[in-house]
Amino acid sequence: MNPTSLIPTESANLFFPLILLLPLLFILLLTHHTSTKKQPPLPPGPSPWPIVGNLFQLGKTPHIALANLAKVHGPLMLLKIGTRPLIVGSSPEAAREILKTHNRSLSGRSISHTIRIKGSKLHNLQLVLHDECNDKWRRVKSIYKTEFFSAKVLESQVEMRERKIRELVRYIGLKEDGQVRAVKIKEVVTFTAINIVSCALVSRDFVDLEGRGVGEGLMENVRRFAESAAKPQLGDMFGVLSWWDLQGMYKELMGIFGRVCGIWVGMVEEKRDRQDGALGGRDFADALIQSGFSDDQINALFMELFSAGIESTSATTEWALTELMRNPESMEKLREELSKEITGDIIKESDLPNLPYLDACLKETLRLHPPGPLLLPHRAIEECQVMGYTIPKDSQILVNMWAIARDPKLWDDPLSFKPERFLSTGMDYMGTDFEYFPFGSGRRFCPGQPLASRVVPVIIASLIHNFDWVLPGNIDPAQINMTDKLDMTMLKQEPLCAIPVSRRETMKL
Ligand code: HEM
Ligand SMILES: *[C@@H]1O[C@H](CO)[C@@H](O)[C@H](O)[C@H]1NC(C)=O
Ligand SMILES: *[C@@H]1O[C@H](CO)[C@@H](O)[C@H](O)[C@H]1NC(C)=O
Repeated sequence: MNPTSLIPTESANLFFPLILLLPLLFILLLTHHTSTKKQPPLPPGPSPWPIVGNLFQLGKTPHIALANLAKVHGPLMLLKIGTRPLIVGSSPEAAREILKTHNRSLSGRSISHTIRIKGSKLHNLQLVLHDECNDKWRRVKSIYKTEFFSAKVLESQVEMRERKIRELVRYIGLKEDGQVRAVKIKEVVTFTAINIVSCALVSRDFVDLEGRGVGEGLMENVRRFAESAAKPQLGDMFGVLSWWDLQGMYKELMGIFGRVCGIWVGMVEEKRDRQDGALGGRDFADALIQSGFSDDQINALFMELFSAGIESTSATTEWALTELMRNPESMEKLREELSKEITGDIIKESDLPNLPYLDACLKETLRLHPPGPLLLPHRAIEECQVMGYTIPKDSQILVNMWAIARDPKLWDDPLSFKPERFLSTGMDYMGTDFEYFPFGSGRRFCPGQPLASRVVPVIIASLIHNFDWVLPGNIDPAQINMTDKLDMTMLKQEPLCAIPVSRRETMKL
């Protein structure tokens, strides 16, 4: 997920300045009730005195807090974060209105003041840091679509991706050799995902499976970048940051950004120098250079792809493996399907159409553990009316996909992991169904979905097909703590650490 997130995660930091602002809040509170004319009313929500309260109620698991509030206040709620309206949709109808009917008005993003600074190397350069879906945004969307995520480009890289996943399986197999050692699933899958993306971008691995190499520390920096970008939220909420603060924070952010870009700037430069004579396959960097994209823009796009593409992939794999370990019948069914359809040790992307149960397991994982439970915050670029209520211009808008996907009115036994529920329905990932849309829907639909739909199931299947997984100390998987937390991505609070036991006599990888 991306650093634009406006949900403050470090509530403690926010406390001190809030005290200073209490008088201001009080005035706002008094004026709040006097401004209604003939317009439809604002959506209901928690009473305004907890203006401050709303902020703290959100906490580390805002998707849960907001789902609970929606039970009281309904499927379209208004909260205030500071002085800023926050609209939350929590039903299929609200999701449809927000993401489809009003896609023109409600597909903006709020970009923090720190990033909007004059001369910014991020603002309006990435997809996600575009305030509006304008022509510049369309140009980025279209280069992603044709040169990165198109069926043709993805097909040309099948072999590379399958090789990366084979390296992962071989690495885990080595761990298992001799003394048995537990594997931090999310970590090794992260390294694999980094290389899959880096090979698509510049035809190079960034790390080995211990995380060493030119890309060492990449994800730590991406995470620090996201945290830094989230810090100035207070200023955005109250408009109190000075020019001086902004400069300071922008510098801090650029320091981290620069360190990340340092991984690839040399590689991109080299490509620019020998554009005509480029040998071998064309990668995304070549395509961007040939289409006239500047170095600044290339840096911004690469940063976006690493921020959005890696943790979503590795967290989903971790959740899937965890759910399968806790649900032995599902694990067994998946194994049966794999041993029936797969002849050797290697799962190929071309096997996926023959593996409907695997597909259902992934869908069920994304239902219970979507990496973006609230999608990414949208913004109302103009005032509009939704479900008989007024949405003020510049409101932030969240759609609680997590709450919808666990709503007992829509799903039988919603908290249980039951992949079977997806076998009979035609429900897919495309966001046409407003009961289930882990990749979002409409204009801001995840551009990475075609890649994720190829990579994630092959990784999961490869881990299951080649290994049995047991917990250290032979702990019963039913004991696994399923608590989550919303960072950039919704993560398992306690990372899964499991011991692989090879299921193959001879691994010919
Ligand atoms: C399991 C995997 C993934 C899931 C569930 C997922 C889900 C999402 C969601 C929910 C959004 C926000 C939609 C909205 O705001 O309405 C999003 C946006 C985005 N995703 Fe993904 N994603 C995944 C993987 C990827 C990958 C692999 C990439 C790229 C390599 C990627 C790139 C992006 C980008 C660039 C955006 C921003 C789009 C925009 O602002 O217009 N995602 N994704
Ligand atoms: C956006 O909304 C318009 C009008 O409601 C609709 O025709 C169009 O298909 C929508 N686009 C998307 C991507 O949902
Ligand atoms: C799971 O972990 C969280 C945080 O690490 C903790 O607060 C919670 O009590 C744990 N739950 C169980 C059932 O152990």
